[in-house]
Amino acid sequence: MRVLVTGGAGYIGSVIADQLIDSGHHVTVLDDLSKGHQDAVSHKATFARGSLEDTSFLRHVFETEQPDAVVHMAASSLVGESMSKPAAYYRNNVVAGFALLDAMLDAGVRKIVFSSTAAVYGEPARQPVRETDAMAPTNPYGETKLTMERALYWHHRAYGLRAISLRYFNAAGATALRGERHAPETHLIPLVLAAAAGEGSPITIFGDDYPTRDGTCVRDYVHVSDLARAHVAALEALDRHEIEYDAFNVGTGTGYTVREVIHAAARVTGRPVPTAVGPRRHGDPAVLVAAPDRIREIMNWSAKEQSIVRIVESAWRWTRKQRTQTDAAPTPSPA
Ligand code: UFG
Repeated sequence: MRVLVTGGAGYIGSVIADQLIDSGHHVTVLDDLSKGHQDAVSHKATFARGSLEDTSFLRHVFETEQPDAVVHMAASSLVGESMSKPAAYYRNNVVAGFALLDAMLDAGVRKIVFSSTAAVYGEPARQPVRETDAMAPTNPYGETKLTMERALYWHHRAYGLRAISLRYFNAAGATALRGERHAPETHLIPLVLAAAAGEGSPITIFGDDYPTRDGTCVRDYVHVSDLARAHVAALEALDRHEIEYDAFNVGTGTGYTVREVIHAAARVTGRPVPTAVGPRRHGDPAVLVAAPDRIREIMNWSAKEQSIVRIVESAWRWTRKQRTQTDAAPTPSPA
């Protein structure tokens, strides 16, 4: 297949692009590099730098690249930021998303795998969360992703679009080539590793009075390679007409507390992780763990990596490699 990966220069998108290429597909990465990194684009992919909101650019990409399918990753994805900048989230996730759908329909492209999130569930009434549970987002990020999911459903009904939404739980870890590089970084594992390396500030635990086993929030950390594999499986299921429209949780089914992640990082790095306890972060549910049964039953996907220690270890390897490369880079000579 020829696959257009929007946001393919980002953390998860770059791993998806690599796996698609390794599975024999042709990949075009579309990314405006507002958050992604050009060096995260495989030299085996075609790179189209630009914005989804630039309709003539988008039309040009569809005309020249002739994709058979789209993996739509490009989006803003921080819960906290979405609370203070809802307009930006509606623009980047919904307005740009609709521009992409229009371009797809104009070009006759009818297959899409959409990057959705556990945030569509809001504060779930029960754990683990099933796809059939109520969806009631508690922040604009989750709301905009749910809006797109619903739009895909109606596009499926009206225009025959075939679509799979993948609701990610907490993407984590790294491959030998790709890892997490956000600026600013807000995610737990990279921050904990920076604290262990003595590069960041001590890690602030956002609340230790939750009704969980040690008082800190529980999350389902899914390795980025497993997550990427779900996209390849979804695309292939759409291509074989096994699925016309669906939405799946993508998680391991196991949750770890913030303190357990910190403990894993101390073990992996062999260094103490300086911590401080702060107030709860606005909008954080106490527990978010996926029931991953449906995706296993229907798409035969399950997370191969179940160990938080190995997930953190892969991220640590990546962090150290990045540091070695930065240290080895030539110092620019003074002007
Ligand atoms: N946390 C801390 N201190 C920090 C950073 C995070 O205690 O400095 C805690 C959070 O409170 C949370 C856990 O660590 O309990 C994980 O936080 P992340 O910021 O790493 O991830 P989130 O759970 O907030 O968000 C992630 C994705 C979202 C997605 C969500 C769905 O980034 O896009 O999972 O579960 F919506």
